[in-house]
Amino acid sequence: MGAHQDTRIVVTGAGRGIGAALARRFAAEGARVVVNDLDADAAKSVAEEIGGAAVPGDAAGERGVAELIRQARTALDGPIDIYCANAGVPTGGGPEASEEDWAQAWDVNVMSHVRAARALLPEWLDRGKGRFVATVSAAGLLTMIGAAPYSVTKHGALAFAEWLSLTYRHRGVGVHAVCPQGVRTNMLDSTGAEGELVLTPTAIEPEQVADAVLAGIADERFLILPHPEVAEYYANRATNPDRWLGGMNKLQRRLDGGQA
Ligand SMILES: NC(=O)c1ccc[n+]([C@@H]2O[C@H](COP(=O)([O-])OP(=O)(O)OC[C@H]3O[C@@H](n4cnc5c(N)ncnc54)[C@H](O)[C@@H]3O)[C@@H](O)[C@H]2O)c1
Repeated sequence: MGAHQDTRIVVTGAGRGIGAALARRFAAEGARVVVNDLDADAAKSVAEEIGGAAVPGDAAGERGVAELIRQARTALDGPIDIYCANAGVPTGGGPEASEEDWAQAWDVNVMSHVRAARALLPEWLDRGKGRFVATVSAAGLLTMIGAAPYSVTKHGALAFAEWLSLTYRHRGVGVHAVCPQGVRTNMLDSTGAEGELVLTPTAIEPEQVADAVLAGIADERFLILPHPEVAEYYANRATNPDRWLGGMNKLQRRLDGGQA
């Protein structure tokens, strides 16, 4: 018997990367997994490989989330036990990024979680049981150089996960915020010079994130840090923000080609 035998699980953005690794790992532990992705071929191929069900489509917009959850309940023939809100977009830039880019980052990185929780909570509170796994990012605890929309929306995703956890933990709803630094996926490849400087040197495999998530669930830990050193950076940021900002600015100056 696996640790998640017959558990009904949905993973969004699971056609590749961290989501695919989560789907594979849960399936290896005996779970029944719904594989969602905007990329239907990718979702189908992962679902086929793990004996799961593909429910392709948008996991962010209000209609997309409602449809995903409806189809997942049918495919799983029952209620969803664990929902992994994993789909995300790595929107870069600063205030000059377009309104559309900011709105998309907000929609996919934050509102997808809010909308899923809205659809799932009534059933979870009724059953006294449910689990929400949010793939956030170390950018939600710290920041990502060169990517304001990403950093701001990941902070939002973390804040929402904290709120969910403190509001419903005594009613059987478990919440986890997964906050890795660099992970070797297509997303990391898209982060350019900033990613190469701050993420690539310590990047890990998606399978290591999946291992950390399963360990975090087993321990009932809210904050899941596949890169343990992030705890120290997070503490430094909280206790001495100016020193932390100075250190981050040093990295920015190195990217700008100036003195660091
Ligand atoms: N790769 C990293 O370094 C890293 C680090 C920290 C956090 N994360 C987070 O991990 C999550 C997964 O990222 P990844 O690195 O595996 O990226 P990835 O690009 O390999 O995979 C993301 C998948 O999400 C899908 N997707 C995007 N928007 C979607 C939507 N609206 N509905 C359904 N599917 C959608 C994409 O089609 C893609 O298949 C993201 O939330 C990301 O922010 C990644």
